Amino acid sequence: MELKDQVAVITGAASGLGRAIALRYAQAGANIAIADLNDTGAEETAEQVRKIGTRALTKVTDVAEYEQVEALMAQTVKTFGRIDILVSNAGIGGFGHLVDLSREVFERVVRVHLFGAFYCSQLAAREMIKRKYGRIILMSSITAVQGPIGTNLPYGAAKTGLLGLMRGMTLDLAEHNITVNAIAPGPTDTPMLRAGSPDLSLRSHHVPMGRIGNPSDIANAAWFFALPSSGYVTGTVLPVDGGALAGGCYMVEYHRNRSQAK
Ligand SMILES: NC(=O)c1ccc[n+]([C@@H]2O[C@H](COP(=O)([O-])OP(=O)(O)OC[C@H]3O[C@@H](n4cnc5c(N)ncnc54)[C@H](O)[C@@H]3O)[C@@H](O)[C@H]2O)c1
Repeated sequence: MELKDQVAVITGAASGLGRAIALRYAQAGANIAIADLNDTGAEETAEQVRKIGTRALTKVTDVAEYEQVEALMAQTVKTFGRIDILVSNAGIGGFGHLVDLSREVFERVVRVHLFGAFYCSQLAAREMIKRKYGRIILMSSITAVQGPIGTNLPYGAAKTGLLGLMRGMTLDLAEHNITVNAIAPGPTDTPMLRAGSPDLSLRSHHVPMGRIGNPSDIANAAWFFALPSSGYVTGTVLPVDGGALAGGCYMVEYHRNRSQAK
């Protein structure tokens, strides 16, 4: 029960990685504020948290809207009295090539990922500073480290921006005993990945471990960053990608050789 009685705000926790992190934190004893556009999914996550034995609140929130994030943090403090952990995880896919990319798509993707993380972090940090303790975790992507693939331009730009935000916040918040870190997942089996890659076996060829990640792989990394004993780990980005970044552009050849050897 490493997070016993702590309070975590997790955005995008109605689904995929956010839900897995909510359940992992609940198993460690934390109460969870679940913020998402998807009310039904948020309620399902809340039920699962309560079954584990901690408290949960849900708040329909568009993280790209500052006033809605203000209401989320206010509701969390009113219900639970404090905020110890923020996981800024809500996200959407965003595709298109530069020349014909619509301005609306680019703006929406950047607003959700980057502005959303900024709004959530600023407002959560103000609460954390009062108690001189906090853990902020941003959900980036290996796309931010190795470069967007194919039509992934808006998404890659937003996820790369998150790393700059993370580094800047690290300096601003260190004196308040608040750590800030980012996770860079590789392809992980969630509704978002399945929507963009119906054949997951193809994606697994890019991963040295030979499989797509499970949400629990990412939840374990989020658990580590949230621990009170991780207080000297700040300003870092942790790929959780089965070795995909290490393989890089050589994965195509590696896969071909591995297939021929079988
Ligand atoms: N699954 C992967 O392979 C992968 C890889 C790298 C990074 N990521 C990142 O992980 C995060 C979680 O993605 P996932 O794979 O679990 O996807 P998902 O689609 O299963 O979950 C995303 C959640 O975010 C919510 N959401 C979207 N826009 C929102 C908004 N404006 N305000 C509040 N909630 C909003 C959705 O309703 C959904 O519940 C995203 O930031 C994504 O970019 C995922």
